[in-house]
Amino acid sequence: MPAISVSAPGKIILFGEHAVVYGYPAIAAPVIQVKAKAIVNANPLAAPGNIHIQAPNIGLDADLVDLPAEHPLVTAIQAVTQFLGVHHLPACSIRITSSIPVAAGLGSGAAVSVALIRALSAFLGKPLDNDCVSSLAYQVEKLYHGTPSGIDNTVITYEQPVYFVREQPICRLSVGKPFTVVIGDTGESCPTAITVGDLAQAWRANPEPLKREFDQIARITDAARQAIEGGNTAELGPLMTANHQHLQTLGVSSPELDHLFEAARSAGASGAKLSGGGRGGNMIALVESSHAQIVANALQEAGAVRTIVTEVKPQGRR
Ligand code: MEV
Repeated sequence: MPAISVSAPGKIILFGEHAVVYGYPAIAAPVIQVKAKAIVNANPLAAPGNIHIQAPNIGLDADLVDLPAEHPLVTAIQAVTQFLGVHHLPACSIRITSSIPVAAGLGSGAAVSVALIRALSAFLGKPLDNDCVSSLAYQVEKLYHGTPSGIDNTVITYEQPVYFVREQPICRLSVGKPFTVVIGDTGESCPTAITVGDLAQAWRANPEPLKREFDQIARITDAARQAIEGGNTAELGPLMTANHQHLQTLGVSSPELDHLFEAARSAGASGAKLSGGGRGGNMIALVESSHAQIVANALQEAGAVRTIVTEVKPQGRR
């Protein structure tokens, strides 16, 4: 049997992170320049049922039975076998690699889950459709990220820009005119569960100030949706910057993110914001494509450990 190899992209949140956890809309896009990959190989010479897993990025080289039950890869494998009603996996080796930085707002966990779920279900001869893949990846996300909105697994599964509202059917965003974004990595990692957890605590103590911020962010997100669909890219920069300012007020930015935000704006980006959970990880800057390298260079000079230039455009998988 030939090896099954599946990749899944990273993602950026263009507008509405954090607010989306509370039922407000958000906009996200896939980032195909980085990816997680799962390769499943039949291993007929191994003992029946032996599943060997390698994930060199996290120094993992072990048999499935030796991993803790709560390990995310174990959870993803179980989600597939339970859903498909498969009681015994054939002996195989699973190799996971990823070029997506971990805990940096680019969706590394969801991308690994999506790639693994797709590869394993195909290996079992029962490839799952996008809705199933996304919902199984969401199950894994829930175990590891507290109260995820589901936006990461959705945009990564469908590989398409989305306007997302929690627990509502996926809404693909039609992009009137492609636009260019430079992603700058602060090099600081911060698990999403931490910033999401901090806001949840603040919400429990007094939801009103957060509601006010989220209402404003939702207005920005809806205006951005119209601008993206209408191809009015010029309107997006100021909207991004305004979104960042609300995220600062919410306390999920960081000095490093703010520094890159300023550097991007000084280098000519029409707008910028942090992207994802915040307090580290990545920020994004909206640029003219001809100006992307200038902004990327400015971000590196300001301390970004890596930059990616990506284009947001209509794209889809299957
Ligand atoms: C996810 O990339 C960003 C957050 O909005 C969390 C979530 O939606 O699950 C912070």
